[in-house]
Amino acid sequence: MGAMEIEEQTGKAIDLIKKSNRIVSLSGAGISTEAGVPDFRGPGGMWDDPTLLQQMTASGFRRNPEGFYRASTNLFSTISSAEPTLAHQMLVRLEQLGKIEGIVTQNIDGLHRAAGSTKVFELHGTYRTGHCTKCPAGYQMMDFYRAIEEGRLQAPHCTACNAVIKPDVVLFEDLLPVDAWQGAVDAVNNCDLMLVLGSSLVVYPAAELPMMAIASDAPLVIVNLEATAFDSMATVTVQSPLGDFAQATLTALES
Ligand code: APR
Repeated sequence: MGAMEIEEQTGKAIDLIKKSNRIVSLSGAGISTEAGVPDFRGPGGMWDDPTLLQQMTASGFRRNPEGFYRASTNLFSTISSAEPTLAHQMLVRLEQLGKIEGIVTQNIDGLHRAAGSTKVFELHGTYRTGHCTKCPAGYQMMDFYRAIEEGRLQAPHCTACNAVIKPDVVLFEDLLPVDAWQGAVDAVNNCDLMLVLGSSLVVYPAAELPMMAIASDAPLVIVNLEATAFDSMATVTVQSPLGDFAQATLTALES
């Protein structure tokens, strides 16, 4: 997409944002790459490593929790030092202006809440907390990741029943958290604009949400560096870095 077209499409997207009061955003890994968190399917994305992908399944975790923690602790420590991006801050500003119906994210990095968004639905959970795989005990996970990174621990175990602890992240084969999914669906069914921000839209059921928005007669805006399968159904597509899009939007909102 050339510079002229990006500018034109960005302007159309901003016009829709200004006119909307019940915006739902659906963010993917692309909203956090400018904070140093790698995405999965963009150039150099995490799924370029097939062994990592295989390890990030629920069966892979059950089979080899130590391998899961070894493979994911580098990502978790990258996430823990990441700061919210301008695009996260754009959504906070839109919420302050009373224009947000819901912030739906596929990310586990917690950066929407860290930025100050409150109406957040984390479809794929969060890495910050975890639960025992056998009893209901819940845990804060950051100290465990630090101990694993420093080689003092292989995998955290429950202090009550000694079973292994799993982060509250949705791995392939896991079910989505019901409350987050239902909250996202309710928000989408009530939205007057859907903003997809940095997602390849290849993972379901999250990728169903843009279709639900269209079914609710809401315009669909997709801001993503690469084309997606939903571009032909979008009202506006902007193939531009989210930082640039967020900067243009924040400037327009203040004028
Ligand atoms: N600005 C705009 N788009 C970007 C940027 C950026 N700065 N950086 C990356 N992107 C785009 C990439 O081009 C890519 O198309 O963001 C998209 C991210 O897509 P994925 O890596 O597939 O991430 P996501 O859509 O979130 O994946 C969904 O898949 O592996 C599972 O559970 C995992 O939540 C994840 C889900």
